[in-house]
Formats: sequence, C-alpha cells, structure tokens
Amino acid sequence: MTDGPLVPYLKDLIAAEGPLSLARYMREALLHPEHGYYTGREPFGTQGDFITAPEISQVFGELIGLWCAAVWQQIGSPERVALVEFGPGRGTLMADALRAARIVPGFAEAIEVHLVEASPRLREIQRTALPGIRVTWHSAPDTLPACPTLMIGNEFFDALPINQLVYRSGMWQERCIGWNEEKSALSWVEKQATDDLEACVPAAAGAPDEGDIFEISAEGRARMDEIARHIRRHGGAGLFIDYGHGSSAFGDTFQAVKAHKPVDPLSAPGTADLTAHVDFDALLDTAAATGCNGFGTVTQVAFLTALGIEQRVERLLAQASETQAATLRSGARRLIDPAEMGTLFKVVAVAAREIEELPGFGPPRDQART
Ligand SMILES: C[S@@+](CC[C@H](N)C(=O)[O-])C[C@H]1O[C@@H](n2cnc3c(N)ncnc32)[C@H](O)[C@@H]1O
Repeated sequence: MTDGPLVPYLKDLIAAEGPLSLARYMREALLHPEHGYYTGREPFGTQGDFITAPEISQVFGELIGLWCAAVWQQIGSPERVALVEFGPGRGTLMADALRAARIVPGFAEAIEVHLVEASPRLREIQRTALPGIRVTWHSAPDTLPACPTLMIGNEFFDALPINQLVYRSGMWQERCIGWNEEKSALSWVEKQATDDLEACVPAAAGAPDEGDIFEISAEGRARMDEIARHIRRHGGAGLFIDYGHGSSAFGDTFQAVKAHKPVDPLSAPGTADLTAHVDFDALLDTAAATGCNGFGTVTQVAFLTALGIEQRVERLLAQASETQAATLRSGARRLIDPAEMGTLFKVVAVAAREIEELPGFGPPRDQART
C-alpha cells in the first residue's frame, strides 16, 4: 500500500492523464507546493533524513569559498561578481564560504549573493543563515544578473528529476508510475519510449543487455545548458559536487531515503528524499556544446586535498577545544575517506573558454582527452 498526503492527488492525476513519467513523479513528490518533500519537511541533519558535506564540516564550505576567491583573482578581480549557489539547503555552505573568503582583500566587497532555490520554506531558512547579507533568490538561472559569475552547487543535480528507460526485447521502454487498484498502491508500468528520450542514450554507454536501465535528467541538462550559456556570455566559472557516474553508464540509481535509511521510492511520496546518481558526462557534454570548458570529474578526496583540506584542519585545530578538535577531525575524515564520501562524490567545473586552469583540476576535459 502507498500512503502519505500526496496519494489522493497523484491517484487523480494518473486517472486523468495516464501513468506519470518518473520525472513528473519526482517533481511532484519533491516540490509539490503543499506536500512536496522540500516544501514541507526539514530533511537535513542527524534528526532529519540525510546529512550533506557542508553540514558535516565547516571546512567544506570554507575551501569552496577560497576556491571562488582564487577564481575571482584569476579572472582579474572584477569589481562586481555574482556568487550564485544552486540548491543551498540550509545556507550553511554559503555562510562558511563567505566567512572564509573575507580574508581575500576586495572579494567580499565585490560579491553579490544569489541563491537558486525552489522551496519557499528553505528560502526562509537560508535568510536566517545569512544575517546581514543582501541575498536575491531565483527559481532558475535565467534571471541572474549580467556580470561575471561564480556558481557553486552541492547535491543540487542529484535532486533534479530523471526519466528511466529499460531495455526489453531489443527496444527501449520508459518506466512510468501507475496506480494498482487491487493493492491500493503506486506501481511501475512500462510504455514505449519516445524518440527524444531514446536519442539521449549515448553510444559510449555500450550495447545494452536485457533489463538494463538508463537514466536521463532532462532538467539537469537544461540547467547546465543555462549555467554554461550564462558563464560563456558574462565570464566566470561554476563548481558542482555530487555523487554519480564518472562516465555515462547503465544502472538503476533512483533511490528514496528517510531517516538515513533506504525506503521504497513509491511507498510514501513527499515524505522521503528522492535522488538519482548524476551523469557527469552528460552535464560536461552539455557545457561543451555551449562553448565552455569543462573540468573533471575528480573525486571529492582529490579535490579537497588539492585545495589543502589537511592544512586547513591543522590551522583550525590550533585554536580548537578538545571537543571541537574531535569534531573537526572526524568531519574532515568523513569528507575524504574513500569508504565514506571521498570517492563516491565527484567534482566538476565549467568555465569560460579562456580559462584553461582551475584550482583542484587538471587541464580542461577536451584537452585531457586528446
Ligand atoms: C540535497 S539538498 C542539498 C542542499 C545543500 N546544497 C547542502 O549541500 O546541504 C537539494 C537542494 O536543492 C533544492 N532544489 C531541489 N530541486 C530544485 C530545483 N528544481 N530548483 C532549485 N532548487 C532545487 C532543494 O530545495 C535543496 O535546497
């Protein structure tokens, strides 16, 4: 049986329109104005459903703030720069980044803070986390100001809706969500995939076997396209951290998490976090198609180590109490330990074509491939 406050609404929607694509289901379950997961619940932290890198350690946001300051200097320290965060959650990453970046002369004065956030409830929490800071909120990148821009996003793309295709008897079918009257539950159904979706399966993923699943985030690609176009036009760079495939691959990564445990994603829509692994290849290909340079993927451990996580922790330890020192050490370890977040999480960047180097990365992806 499926329950939760969204069920009557979803059931009516399916009765009126037929089975829902997974993307539509995710959008409703995460962002329904009243009962959506991000609109109605407090998901973060040990009391919530999951914990993210900025909530684990202040060092994460601080290093990202210093990365932004270094890139700002690299692009000639413009007097005005937009610092944009996508999906800022509780605002912790931005608060830590701004605090650390203050040590770079002139950067704080140049920054305008912009947050791209879909949840009105989280916008209020972000306002409280950033006291005294002038913030402008956006629903999408198309309203960002026309000036050099530094963009950051942690676990933003994994929250965007996906479609799933499944390979059956030599053809791609789309996995959709219908209503099973007998079980009084949402259930998986399959229908013929559209040509548009089928065209998104890259040859590089290899020949599919019966039952293979391929995931496509049209919304993720659209967001990256807007991001890259903005950067190409106005200059700057974007940095995105998430978990996912280094290269496009088959696999079912759609998952629901509630109280730090996996649950059936169709069992109680709106009450569990829904995510899927990010296809970084697809995002970097999208950025390259707009004429931007793409960087990565690099693992989170490689990126944070290159940015000096160990040295930063040592510096903070010099002024820390015993309890603070233990928290600092365990938080930093969790971020970089390959058995925890170190290798599952990956980092990519996008930059205007004239930027051929970025802190923490090797050469642009196109040059690395030749
Ligand atoms: C997993 S949380 C990550 C929060 C934060 N970056 C962190 O690391 O703690 C995803 C964030 O993206 C926001 N979000 C989800 N879908 C969105 C969309 N379509 N547009 C803008 N923000 C979105 C959520 O409301 C939330 O703030």
